[in-house]
Amino acid sequence: MNYGIFGGQYVPQNLKEKLGVIAQKFNDLKKEKNFKEEYLYYLKHFVGRPSPLYFASNLTKYLNGAKIYLKREDLNHTGSHKINNAIGQVLLAKRLGYTHIIAETGAGQHGVATATVCALFKMKCTIFMGKEDIKRQHVNVEKMKILGAEIKEVTSGEGTLKEAVDEAFEYFEKHPESYYLIGSAVGPYPYPEIVKYFQKVIGEETKKQIRKLEGKLPNAIIACIGGGSNSIGMFTPFIKEKPIDIYGVEGAGLGLQTGYHASAIYNNKIGILHGMKTYTMQDEDGKIKDAYSISAGLDYPGIGPEHAYFHNNNRVKYDSITDEEAVEAFKLLTNLEGIIPALESSHAVAYAMKIATNYKKDDIIVICLSGRGDKDLDNILNYQEQTM
Ligand SMILES: Cc1ncc(COP(=O)(O)O)c(C=O)c1O
Repeated sequence: MNYGIFGGQYVPQNLKEKLGVIAQKFNDLKKEKNFKEEYLYYLKHFVGRPSPLYFASNLTKYLNGAKIYLKREDLNHTGSHKINNAIGQVLLAKRLGYTHIIAETGAGQHGVATATVCALFKMKCTIFMGKEDIKRQHVNVEKMKILGAEIKEVTSGEGTLKEAVDEAFEYFEKHPESYYLIGSAVGPYPYPEIVKYFQKVIGEETKKQIRKLEGKLPNAIIACIGGGSNSIGMFTPFIKEKPIDIYGVEGAGLGLQTGYHASAIYNNKIGILHGMKTYTMQDEDGKIKDAYSISAGLDYPGIGPEHAYFHNNNRVKYDSITDEEAVEAFKLLTNLEGIIPALESSHAVAYAMKIATNYKKDDIIVICLSGRGDKDLDNILNYQEQTM
């Protein structure tokens, strides 16, 4: 339930009861062979797993440092890692007898993944999305609607991911028939555990693939962090492998000093957000502050509680990348490799660009390329117009 001093279940009593039932079922199903087989069946035949581990030879040559590999979550059905978790949780919800799925989304990738699995399993689907994100990610909004989801526009606060999660939790609490399919490794217990369980396939596959390709494990792995699901999925199987450097990259927005960023770790402030104790962005009065990042999926003022724990015990190094650096990496990967990355994933690519020459030429860095960038083209064009 806890990760050191982090995590927990900071929610009203009625929600605790609902979460208790979900936790019990989840823990039972983990031991059930049929459940695991069903989940793996859909990962293989519906999502298209395993996703390739691709040697980015042009990027490697250009950076002139360690060998760079990309874990291609962008090639999954619906275009990101979010579908791994959506499949797993919808199967869990089905076993619990739920027929109405609700979810929050920032970049829209989790919303699309959820709407997709709801279409597949004939579930009613409601997606909470901030008004700003609806503007930034309109392609994904249209996809969700076509898939049959109802979009609830969230207008409070900055109209981004935090408010969408707030409203989804409120709905979840008031509507006993709804199952909240959380999209990241955040929230009260058991959600961080559930999301980790369904995302750790990323790291498990990577481990097997790199051993086969290179006969050894990587020297470093890098993933971007919104709430922390693609990263926890990638990191988990490597965390006990000691000499491997592990990097989590948050959004530094316009620069950490400007205050317009999305790094929950930066100010080292611990608070309660969305039912968990973790590092959060706070103002002088200790209230949760709005996050900012060009990337809607990183625009979150907290971080999953297990990441907070890894930060405290120094197992993972958390750092951040600015909008400008991410956009540069977006263009570089597109031009060098013919792969258009999501703006979220571009933060991880940008970090690899920074550290590649800290390693030897036969060292290996694996980047989790969490999603594809088609959804971000408008955003990039606007950014270019504003900065020209
Ligand atoms: C492609 C992509 N990568 C990364 C993220 C960040 O989320 P998380 O930290 O949960 O992986 C998102 C969130 O929407 C996303 O769409």
